[in-house]
Amino acid sequence: MKRGHGIGFGKAILFNEHFVVYGIPSIVSAIGQHTVAKVEPYDKPGFTLLDKRPATPKYKEDKLEQQKDSFSLMFKKMGLDLSKNGVSITLDGNLYAASGIGASAASCVAVARALAEYYEMSLSDEQINEIAYEGEKGYHGTPSGVDNTASTYGGLIWFQKGDANVIDRITLANPVEIVIGNTGKVTDTKAAVDGVRQRKEQNPKKYQEVFDRAENIAYLAKRAFADRSYTDIGKLMNENHKLLQQIEVSSRELDFLVSIAREAGALGAKLTGGGLGGNMIALTPGKDVQNKVATAIEKEGFQTVKTIIGASREDVEY
Ligand code: PMV
Repeated sequence: MKRGHGIGFGKAILFNEHFVVYGIPSIVSAIGQHTVAKVEPYDKPGFTLLDKRPATPKYKEDKLEQQKDSFSLMFKKMGLDLSKNGVSITLDGNLYAASGIGASAASCVAVARALAEYYEMSLSDEQINEIAYEGEKGYHGTPSGVDNTASTYGGLIWFQKGDANVIDRITLANPVEIVIGNTGKVTDTKAAVDGVRQRKEQNPKKYQEVFDRAENIAYLAKRAFADRSYTDIGKLMNENHKLLQQIEVSSRELDFLVSIAREAGALGAKLTGGGLGGNMIALTPGKDVQNKVATAIEKEGFQTVKTIIGASREDVEY
């Protein structure tokens, strides 16, 4: 039977979510978890979806309409006509479908790759990234492109939105342990992004200062990665969290998990992704610190994922 399959990485934004929307550089990483998509023939027009991904309660229900829009946008971008022969799409893999860890981008990339294989289209990573970006619009409106870029290429990436996006690899000698803590709250990235835009328009001077500092932090973090100074990276993550608080995209739960992680020995911790709920990330090089931080968060009744930054395709079997 004709069949296509594809993979997309989960991601964690290490520096400058939200600021990235305005062209400030960001640093993003693929994590060790990924989504796998399978495409098979369907005996009706259009498409049918079987979503077997593990998920935060309510995530799939909340995102279903956006997910359908996203698929339609990708079919269109790929020039596919499903009006006679439809496709059946199955989503699976070990990436939790939750806000802030790139679940939507990972599924867009996985589906784009699976469709390309099914329809025997030979597409480059760059083309897959463009199709996934189109799919991301179904969820975000006008996304910066940072999520789908990490989901497509893997590894650790310097991303700057522009007329032509800057996508540079940052070399990591070895993948580094992190903990992702889930507030359990499903959030709407588009609403969070709109909120920042409104407040930025109302307080241009204050926001300009915060944005300037965010830009500076990105360059300092790039240098710290080159020096492999995880202590400095952690400190810069803490500072980045402060800036995200100042633009009002953190939440009580996120601040709580960030402080628990720091007390348990994380080198740094911050919210990751759209904020207002969703997930936070803690930098925890070494399995011991990673276990301590994850246990401390779980003790408070929150779910964690112990994973790595810098995951590449060689780290994944599917
Ligand atoms: O909420 P997530 O994980 O999809 O991350 C969104 C990142 C933002 O910077 C807030 C938005 C964007 O388009 O870059």
